[in-house]
Amino acid sequence: MANKKIALIGAGNIGGELANLIVQKQLGDVVLFDIPAKENFAKGKALDLEQATALSGHQTIVKGTSNWADCAGADVLIITAGIPRKPGQSRDDLVATNLPIIRDVADNAKKHCPDAFVIVISNPLDAMVYEFKRRTGAPRSHVVGMAGTLDSARFALFIAREANVSVTDVRAMVLGGHGDDMVPVLSYTTVNGVPVKQLVAKEKLDALIDRTRKGGGEIVNLMGTSAYYAPAAGAIAMAEAYLRDQKRLLPCAAYLDGEYGYKDLYMGVPVVVGGKGVEKIVQIELSTDEKAALEKSAKSVQGIVDVVKKSA
Ligand code: APR
Repeated sequence: MANKKIALIGAGNIGGELANLIVQKQLGDVVLFDIPAKENFAKGKALDLEQATALSGHQTIVKGTSNWADCAGADVLIITAGIPRKPGQSRDDLVATNLPIIRDVADNAKKHCPDAFVIVISNPLDAMVYEFKRRTGAPRSHVVGMAGTLDSARFALFIAREANVSVTDVRAMVLGGHGDDMVPVLSYTTVNGVPVKQLVAKEKLDALIDRTRKGGGEIVNLMGTSAYYAPAAGAIAMAEAYLRDQKRLLPCAAYLDGEYGYKDLYMGVPVVVGGKGVEKIVQIELSTDEKAALEKSAKSVQGIVDVVKKSA
């Protein structure tokens, strides 16, 4: 059977780590795409990764390119094209630079790989994935944004360190937009079923929520650019769930058509991801406070989506 084909649009920090994880997990062959000015960079990264397979024994083809035709027929498309944040910038500050980029990517994706399952990572995430879907007209089952898996991973790590338990036992759920008012949902956050509120004091939990909300910025301030290992891992969990029909329940930015009371908006909600893509949006019960927090987050997302719509 032929390997699956995964096209990575953007061969930068996240793109490179995505390619590495795809090789390690043997999810399929990789096309590492970037703009013509970065074609040699993409080719060099691809060659470096292929040379590593001679040591690791993985049987994967990795090809660097700036030619969209090489992405034709991709099963999965993961988009990191764009400019990452610098210290002092919010994700929303990126809209002017990254909007024309996502439009260029959407037009080419529609032409060359219209059937792919698409995972958008570029920021501001909720607005970029919205624009990708609007521009391509692709079905909502096949266009998702990666944020919830990353934000939940950050929250889970902070809880594990605070409670002094293994991070593998923490089940954390962060919903809403991928911004400073994202919604860590405490009522669904447990350590193997034990509600986190029983293990960590309220003031400590509040501090962990605050740190999660600013989790991306913390790394930007430390490194001078945005995170890439955890974002790549977050997207690979989603890609693997699709390619291997795992039917995993993951927080993903999904297109809402009435779910949770929102229409024509992308936002982080629990989604079952399987071989048909977004197979189900799971509507969980939220407390009054959680609903209010989701509403606040949705308003922020809507504000940036309105900016995007106005310039369409
Ligand atoms: N088509 C394809 N690739 C593009 C395009 C385009 N139109 N425009 C820019 N790129 C490429 C850049 O050349 C660069 O190699 O996207 C790549 C982005 O890589 P990095 O600058 O290393 O950024 P990265 O850390 O990978 O983050 C990418 O993800 O998390 C978000 O905020 C982050 O929006 C940013 C994106």
